[in-house]
Amino acid sequence: MNTWGQELRLSIFGESHGRAVGITVDGLPPGEEIDMEKVAGEMLRRAPGGSRYTTQRKEADTVEILSGLYEGKTTGFPVCGVIFNTDTRSGDYDTKLRPGHADWTALLKYGGNADMRGGGHFSGRLTAPLVFAGSLAKQVLARRGVFVFGRITRIGQVEDKGIPCDPKVWQMISGKPFPAVHETALQEEIMKAKTAGDSVGGIVEAVAFGLPGGLGEPFFGSMESAVSAMLFSVPAIKGVEFGDGFRLAALNGSQANDGLVLEDGEIRPLTNHNGGILGGITTGAPLIVRVAVKPTSSIPREQRTVDAGTMQPALIKVRGRHDPCIALRAVPVVEAAIALCALDRMLVARSVSI
Ligand SMILES: Cc1cc2nc3c(=O)[nH]c(=O)nc-3n(C[C@H](O)[C@H](O)[C@H](O)COP(=O)(O)O)c2cc1C
Repeated sequence: MNTWGQELRLSIFGESHGRAVGITVDGLPPGEEIDMEKVAGEMLRRAPGGSRYTTQRKEADTVEILSGLYEGKTTGFPVCGVIFNTDTRSGDYDTKLRPGHADWTALLKYGGNADMRGGGHFSGRLTAPLVFAGSLAKQVLARRGVFVFGRITRIGQVEDKGIPCDPKVWQMISGKPFPAVHETALQEEIMKAKTAGDSVGGIVEAVAFGLPGGLGEPFFGSMESAVSAMLFSVPAIKGVEFGDGFRLAALNGSQANDGLVLEDGEIRPLTNHNGGILGGITTGAPLIVRVAVKPTSSIPREQRTVDAGTMQPALIKVRGRHDPCIALRAVPVVEAAIALCALDRMLVARSVSI
């Protein structure tokens, strides 16, 4: 199933080396002004070929809108956006299964029927339509005072420094071409891996500012469930944590609890170890999410595999143009995923009026 969401429904389609990738976004409120320059800006943040730290596949990632927008506003009907593939090199791929990629599991599930050129529907290219949908959600949210920003906090063995939980600081860092405080050390880590014919993983942290308290549904519909389900749909994301996440396991209750105070008659947390969610419901404090992005599986180093064409053992050195580190291009994708979840939950809670 390629469909997601309760009030906001997404349906994603396409393959990496097919004609196009795209998405249908149903449930957007009518009359929302959409600035296509802002959409293009978001697409550019994720697009390949932008620097030596990303794949050299060159795609403009211009979105062609087929429906749902009229005279610069949402109509309230499904928005369908298509991104045509223009720079494909399918000859780089053969029947040898790439370790760490979805070639093997696609074979198990689709029995050789899937168009797996360039990773097919499993390619990171499918996150371009997600970023398009997220850019629409971000514009609807911004009008309601909700903003989502992401940044890189780790590449391989190098950790970036922390920043205050202030929307102005986050906006500045996430808007950088390499969204980190001390990007040079992180960039060197990527180049070290690339030069060695290898790849490297990383951590992306994102914060949603301005979310109203009370979002999220009981039990299976918890805010953590919704956000992590969406984030785990993104290829290469292998870990998700909220607030202090796994670090909470090493703390005492007295250290992990967020004390409460009254400010102008409103209840506020003194700290935010729980990342803006308690009992699956948002508190109104910033929602803090961290994701682990695995190292790119397609590497030119020799590895053992199986040739699915001959069913013989084989050695593989993956060809083609690949990201030496996915985390960099994942930042706008993570932001889009969180924005879409936030908007869906706000529509469910009727916090976005039509
Ligand atoms: C923005 C983005 C770019 C990606 N680029 C590549 C790439 O160049 N080469 C590659 O092998 N995998 C790339 N991936 C990851 C694969 O799509 C992913 O590892 C694969 O589908 C297997 O899924 P899994 O890692 O979630 O298990 C990318 C993922 C994202 C989100």
